[in-house]
Amino acid sequence: MAVLISGAGTNLQALLDTVHRRKGVEIVAVASSTAAAAGLARAERAGVETAAFALADYPARAARDRALADWLSARSVELVVLAGFMELLEPEFVQRFAGRIINVHPALLPAFPGVRAIEQALEYGVKVIGVTVHFVDGGVDTGPIILQECFPLPYPRDIAEITQRVHSVEHRLLPRAVRLIAEGRVRIDERNPRLVHTDEIEDGAD
Ligand code: GAR
Repeated sequence: MAVLISGAGTNLQALLDTVHRRKGVEIVAVASSTAAAAGLARAERAGVETAAFALADYPARAARDRALADWLSARSVELVVLAGFMELLEPEFVQRFAGRIINVHPALLPAFPGVRAIEQALEYGVKVIGVTVHFVDGGVDTGPIILQECFPLPYPRDIAEITQRVHSVEHRLLPRAVRLIAEGRVRIDERNPRLVHTDEIEDGAD
């Protein structure tokens, strides 16, 4: 698999620590939308090949996304994991890896897609907050949902504390989704393409 990042790469670290080189899963490539992403160093420390594909280095996003897709294909990547990749991908990229791209989002989709999801949720005044792992389709955070987990919001609402708690949920949920996919336990419902079945125990045990 490959992991795409833009920033700190804490979700990448969770994947490196819990699924990388276990049970047939290998992170063979980490690509970033910017050479400044701190997460690249995490991959390098783990001996994983890295590259940066900054929009500024290409005439248009289509060219950037084609170069990125070619780089991933050359490494025989079977699953592309967006872990804090903060840019949109061209429909052509999504087509090339159709059904094989997943994303982690810090909100209970379809609420609060896009950027600043945690802030959006707090500004809205929600009583529960959570994390979604979903397949990526042509829209912004609109693909079929694989896993979701939520927790009630404490008072007072300390954004730093809540953000940290959301991240800790992400760091469990994203590796769990990758493990389920690797084990062939994730499938789209034949009659409803929005519905993803995950063949695991209902209480969410790993
Ligand atoms: C994560 O919270 C992830 O869910 C979010 O960016 C953060 C990246 O953190 N992604 C999005 O908001 C995508 N819409 P990380 O670089 O430490 O993994």
